[in-house]
Amino acid sequence: MLQQLLYIFLIIFISSSNSNRLSLIGNNWTITNNINHTAQGTIPGTIHTILFAAKQIPEPYLDYNDLDLRYLIYNNWTFTKKFDLFSDFLASNQITIHLEQIDTVAAITINNCLIGRTNSMFISYTFHVANSCLKFDNEISVDFESPVLYALKQANTYNDTVPPDCPPSVVRGECYVQFIRKEPSSFGWGFGPTFAPIGITGDIYLEAVNTTEIVIQLESVNVASYNVKTKSWQVDVLLSSNNDQFESKIKFILENTTWSYETLVIFNHNLSITVSISDELISRWWPNGYGNQSLYNFVVFNQEKVIDSRLIGFRTVQLVQNKYRTGINGTSFYFVINSQSIFIKGSNWIPSDSFQERVSDEKYERLLRSAQLANMNMIRVWGGGIYERNSFYELADRLGIMLWHDFMFACSLYPVNDEFLKNVHDEVIYQVKRLQSHPSIVLWSGNNENEAVIAENWYNVSQEKMNKTKDDYRKLYIHTVMNAIQQVDQGNNRPFVSSSPSNGLETIAENYIARDHEDSLYGDVHFYGLSLS
Ligand SMILES: *[C@@H]1O[C@H](CO)[C@@H](O)[C@H](O)[C@H]1NC(C)=O
Ligand SMILES: *[C@@H]1O[C@H](CO)[C@@H](O)[C@H](O)[C@H]1NC(C)=O
Ligand SMILES: *[C@@H]1O[C@H](CO)[C@@H](O)[C@H](O)[C@H]1NC(C)=O
Ligand SMILES: *[C@@H]1O[C@H](CO)[C@@H](O)[C@H](O)[C@H]1NC(C)=O
Ligand SMILES: *[C@@H]1O[C@H](CO)[C@@H](O)[C@H](O)[C@H]1NC(C)=O
Ligand SMILES: *[C@@H]1O[C@H](CO)[C@@H](O)[C@H](O)[C@H]1NC(C)=O
Ligand SMILES: *[C@@H]1O[C@H](CO)[C@@H](O)[C@H](O)[C@H]1NC(C)=O
Ligand SMILES: *[C@@H]1O[C@H](CO)[C@@H](O)[C@H](O)[C@H]1NC(C)=O
Ligand SMILES: *[C@@H]1O[C@H](CO)[C@@H](O)[C@H](O)[C@H]1NC(C)=O
Ligand SMILES: *[C@@H]1O[C@H](CO)[C@@H](O)[C@H](O)[C@H]1NC(C)=O
Ligand SMILES: *[C@@H]1O[C@H](CO)[C@@H](O)[C@H](O)[C@H]1NC(C)=O
Repeated sequence: MLQQLLYIFLIIFISSSNSNRLSLIGNNWTITNNINHTAQGTIPGTIHTILFAAKQIPEPYLDYNDLDLRYLIYNNWTFTKKFDLFSDFLASNQITIHLEQIDTVAAITINNCLIGRTNSMFISYTFHVANSCLKFDNEISVDFESPVLYALKQANTYNDTVPPDCPPSVVRGECYVQFIRKEPSSFGWGFGPTFAPIGITGDIYLEAVNTTEIVIQLESVNVASYNVKTKSWQVDVLLSSNNDQFESKIKFILENTTWSYETLVIFNHNLSITVSISDELISRWWPNGYGNQSLYNFVVFNQEKVIDSRLIGFRTVQLVQNKYRTGINGTSFYFVINSQSIFIKGSNWIPSDSFQERVSDEKYERLLRSAQLANMNMIRVWGGGIYERNSFYELADRLGIMLWHDFMFACSLYPVNDEFLKNVHDEVIYQVKRLQSHPSIVLWSGNNENEAVIAENWYNVSQEKMNKTKDDYRKLYIHTVMNAIQQVDQGNNRPFVSSSPSNGLETIAENYIARDHEDSLYGDVHFYGLSLS
C-alpha cells in the first residue's frame, strides 16, 4: 500500500492513433542467392514459391524436383526491399520492427545497421531500431543462412551425439533437423518431400510510438478454470505496456452478455488480472455432436478505447485416468467435457502444404469442415509439423473440433544446451500465450513419439549413455516445456501429457519414461495397424 503511494502517476494521453505502422508485406521484395538466381517476389513467401512464380524453377512438387532443386537450400539467400518513411514516423522516439514468423536463421539489417538475428520459425521477433539507422529512403535486408548448413554447424559444435543424425535414406532428406527450431518434417519425412523452405512467412512491419505515450497490448486471455461451488469461471488476462508505474482504467466486456468488469490498475510493464464470470451468463462450448459451439468476444478497453479482443469459449476439460478394479492392470483414459464423457472420433493433422504461403484460409476451412462432416470431434496437431496460423484454431473453435496439440518435436533425441533450452522456453511461452484463448485446444503434449524413442531405444543408444539420455529428455519436456506451459497456462482446464503416446499417469510414475510404454492398458497408443506386406 505504502509503496503504491510512491509510484509516479503519469497522465495518460491517448491520441486517436497512438502507434504508426508500416507493413512491409506484399510485392517488390528482391531475393537472391548471389550465384545464379535473382527474382522479384511477394512476402509472405519463400524461395521456392517466389522462384516458381518468377518462372525460374518448375513446380517443386512435380517429378524429382525435391532432389533437383536441393541446391537452393544449401545457398544463403538475401531478401531486400526499399521503403520510404515520412517525417511523422521518423520523429517518433521508439521504433521497432516486428516479424510474426521468419523461416529460419537470419540477420536483419536496415541501411547497414544490424537490427537483430533470428533462429526459430516458432517465435515472433520484435527488435528495436535506432532512429539513427533510419532516413527517408531505406532498404531492409534479411540475410538467410542455409538451414541445412546451420543445422550441420550446430550439430558439429554440440559436445555430444544426438541421434538420429539423418532420416532414413529412403526419405532422401537432410540431416540434423533437431538442431534447428524449424518444421521437423521439412528436412524430409515418410509422407513428404524435403524442401526446408527459406523465407518470411508471416507479417513484417515497422512500428513507431513515442515513449511519452502509453501503449497497452493484450497478451493473452485464458478461461483457466471453473469453480463448481460458486458456479463461476476464472478468466486470466495478461496485458503489457511500453511504460511502467502508471495508473489506468481498464474495462472488459463479454459481448452479447450482460457481463462487464472495470478496474483501476497500476501497470508495471506487465499486468495480470483475474476475473470471474458467472456460468449463468453464458452458454457452454461443446465438441461437434454434443451441443453448440458458443463463442464470446472478450473485449479489452483502456479509458473507454478498445485495445484488442479475443474470441473465447467456456468448457471444462478432464482427462480421466482411473484405476480399474483390483486384479486388472491399467487405467482408463478418456475426455470429459462439461461433465459429459466424450467418445473421441478423429485423426492426425500434418502441415497441409510444404509451403505455408500456399495454404489459404479456404483450404483450412475445407479440410476442417470435411473432418466435421465426417463426424470427427478431435484432431491431433502432430509434433513433426508447425504451430498453425490463428485462423486454423478459430475454425476448430467454430466447428467443435477439439485439438490434441503436440509441441514441435518428433521422433528424435534433441540437444539440451542452455541456448537451445532458452529458445524452446521462449517458443512455448509465445505459442501458449498466442493459442490459449481457443476452447478447441483441450490438451498439450510435449512431443511426438520421443518417449518411444527412448523406451524402445530406436537409435541404439548405449546402456552407459541411457541415463544421461533420459535426464536430457526430462530436461527438455518436463523442466523446460511443461514448466513454461505452467507459467502461462494456469488453472485446470487444459491437461498436459509429456509425449504422444504415453502411458499417462503410469508414465509420470515411472519418471516420464515408461518401460513398457506401448502398453495398451495405459494412456494412448499410436496404432500402426496397416499391413505393409
Ligand atoms: C515496385 O518496384 C518498381 C520498380 O522498382 C516500381 O516501379 C513500383 O512502383 C514498385 N511498386 C510498389 C507497389 O512499390
Ligand atoms: C544454379 O546453380 C546450381 C549449382 O550451384 C545448379 O545446380 C543449378 O542448375 C543452377 N540453376 C540455374 C537456374 O542456373
Ligand atoms: C511522436 O511525436 C512527434 C512530435 O514530437 C510526432 O511528430 C510524431 O508523429 C509522434 N509519433 C507518433 C507515432 O505518434
Ligand atoms: C552463409 O552464411 C553463413 C552465416 O552468415 C556464413 O558463415 C557462410 O560463410 C555463408 N556461406 C556462403 C557460401 O556465403
Ligand atoms: C558437455 O556439456 C555438459 C553440459 O551441457 C557438460 O556437463 C559436459 O562436461 C560437457 N562435455 C564436454 C566433453 O565438454
Ligand atoms: C513481461 O512479460 C514478458 C513475457 O510475458 C516478459 O518477457 C517480460 O520480462 C515481462 N516484463 C516485466 C517488466 O515483467
Ligand atoms: C443451441 O443453439 C440453439 C440456437 O441458438 C438453441 O436453440 C439451443 O437451445 C442451443 N442448445 C444448447 C444445448 O445450448
Ligand atoms: C453477438 O450478437 C450479434 C448480433 O446478434 C451477432 O451478429 C454476433 O455474431 C454475436 N457475437 C458472437 C461472438 O456470437
Ligand atoms: C499386472 O502387472 C503386474 C506387474 O507388471 C504383473 O505381474 C501381473 O501379471 C499383471 N496382471 C495381469 C492380470 O495382467
Ligand atoms: C548398437 O550399438 C552397439 C555398440 O554400442 C553395436 O555393437 C551394435 O552393432 C549396434 N546395433 C545396431 C543395430 O546398430
Ligand atoms: C542408471 O540409473 C539407474 C537408476 O538410477 C542406476 O541403477 C544405474 O546404475 C545407472 N546406470 C548407469 C550405467 O549409470
